[in-house]
Amino acid sequence: MASHKIIIDCDPGVDDAVAITLALAAPDEIELLGVTTVAGNVPLENTTRNAIGLLALLRRPDIPVYAGCARPLMRAVGHRSIMHGTEGLGGVELTNDGIEPASEHAVDFIIDTVMSRPGEVTLCPIGPLTNVAVALVKEPRLASNLKQIVFMGGAAFGSGNTTPSAEFNVYVDPHAAHIVACSGVQLTMFGLDVTRSVIATPERLVRLETFDNDVARTVVRMMTAYAQGDPCLHDPCVIAWMIDPGLFSGVDALLEVDCAAGPNYGRTVASVSSRHLAGRQANCKIITNARCDDLFEMLEQRLARFNIPGI
Ligand code: BDR
Ligand code: CA
Repeated sequence: MASHKIIIDCDPGVDDAVAITLALAAPDEIELLGVTTVAGNVPLENTTRNAIGLLALLRRPDIPVYAGCARPLMRAVGHRSIMHGTEGLGGVELTNDGIEPASEHAVDFIIDTVMSRPGEVTLCPIGPLTNVAVALVKEPRLASNLKQIVFMGGAAFGSGNTTPSAEFNVYVDPHAAHIVACSGVQLTMFGLDVTRSVIATPERLVRLETFDNDVARTVVRMMTAYAQGDPCLHDPCVIAWMIDPGLFSGVDALLEVDCAAGPNYGRTVASVSSRHLAGRQANCKIITNARCDDLFEMLEQRLARFNIPGI
């Protein structure tokens, strides 16, 4: 039996697609209960279509996809990324085999799934945190029934990638990130502090290219296009940590999100020292280091598994 039951909340997105692929290549470690989508890199319609197309490619149409929130909490239209191409998968078009998203809203799926398995489910958000925040607000008991939230977002100790101070996922919906940070759920954050070091170099991509299976070939095509603008493999770090936390290290901190209009909008602020904590408790493990070579070796080994039909 897999050690972790997870829900991936995502906005595919090339690196989101790699994260989902990695999760499904780790059946001993991860049971993927469902994929929920949110507007982020591209509009909700695209993120949902991309998630379904990817699962069809991975020959896992049994994994349900639930569409979630189409806009951030406090803005009518969210900021989009230009890194993933207009459709979101680096110019790669996937067919969805006629599969439709499930009829339930992503927020309700998250609530129902967590509440029916108290203390067992890990939420892995790798897009803006809108769905997660709405779920926490809609079901106040959700926080105490979640096992943990392991998310990609923020930049605690360095600069942003969307503004000088803000990382994309948090910048799109800082109010949602604020709700998550204050939720009391055990949090592990994969921000730019670590993901910026996880670089898909041309050499690493060439090694992945050698696998003779359609999944690896498609992943490499997407990543090659995406790497022109952003060579960092942000979202897969969350899943790699679920598979092998020993690949990473970090610090305990009090995480806060700046939601005030101005140059720090969407900035994540981390208090680590007792002077900055001033008697307050840490609420988040902020990951700061990755063993990158080992991480890419894991990705290689897992992609190789798709050579075997029926994984
Ligand atoms: C994050 O922003 C998105 O473009 C990526 O998918 C990732 O989740 C990195 O800042
Ligand atoms: Ca993402």
